[in-house]
Amino acid sequence: MKLALFLCLILSSFEYTLQCGCGALYTQQIVCNSDIVMKARIKDQDENVGEFTISIEKIYKGDDVLDSLSDNQTLLTPMESSMCGPITLDTGKTYIMTANSYDGAPMNINFCDFVAEENEISLTLLRGLSGGYFSNCDCKIPYMWDDDSRRGRLRCGRAPRGCSTNAICSKNTRGRCKWQSCR
Ligand SMILES: *[C@@H]1O[C@H](CO)[C@@H](O)[C@H](O)[C@H]1NC(C)=O
Repeated sequence: MKLALFLCLILSSFEYTLQCGCGALYTQQIVCNSDIVMKARIKDQDENVGEFTISIEKIYKGDDVLDSLSDNQTLLTPMESSMCGPITLDTGKTYIMTANSYDGAPMNINFCDFVAEENEISLTLLRGLSGGYFSNCDCKIPYMWDDDSRRGRLRCGRAPRGCSTNAICSKNTRGRCKWQSCR
């Protein structure tokens, strides 16, 4: 995520107005690039400063990062649209989402993160979160700005029609990366 956000800021700085642009097209990319993937309930929020108070219910990735935080209940979103915020989350609802944290600073979330309400999640997403995404982070998936979307042993290329953005790009028995769960 750090790299993706960095690239997105670099790219957007070439434009006349600084805009938010997210390079990752697929959930697997976002999840693989994020420090934290969790299920959390929004307990409270202060919209004026972009601060949520959350209660983490399940951790899919980032136990170590969360352990290193002095505050695991604060989630920040940038107020500037150029910084890809602020993201809208409803108090009382539970979401599956990605977040990042730099050097023990509070967790942050923006439009480039993955967010899904708990009751909107698909079977494919669940399969990904229960291991499909994480064990295939070495499968390369093209970013929005990649001209080169060739396929290859460890490359999936763009997903075929009928694949959701939650589809899993995973290694088959011969160790080749292929899009799965597409119909
Ligand atoms: C959050 O921090 C508290 C206090 O340090 C700890 O007891 C709790 O287990 C932490 N929760 C998670 C999800 O890491």
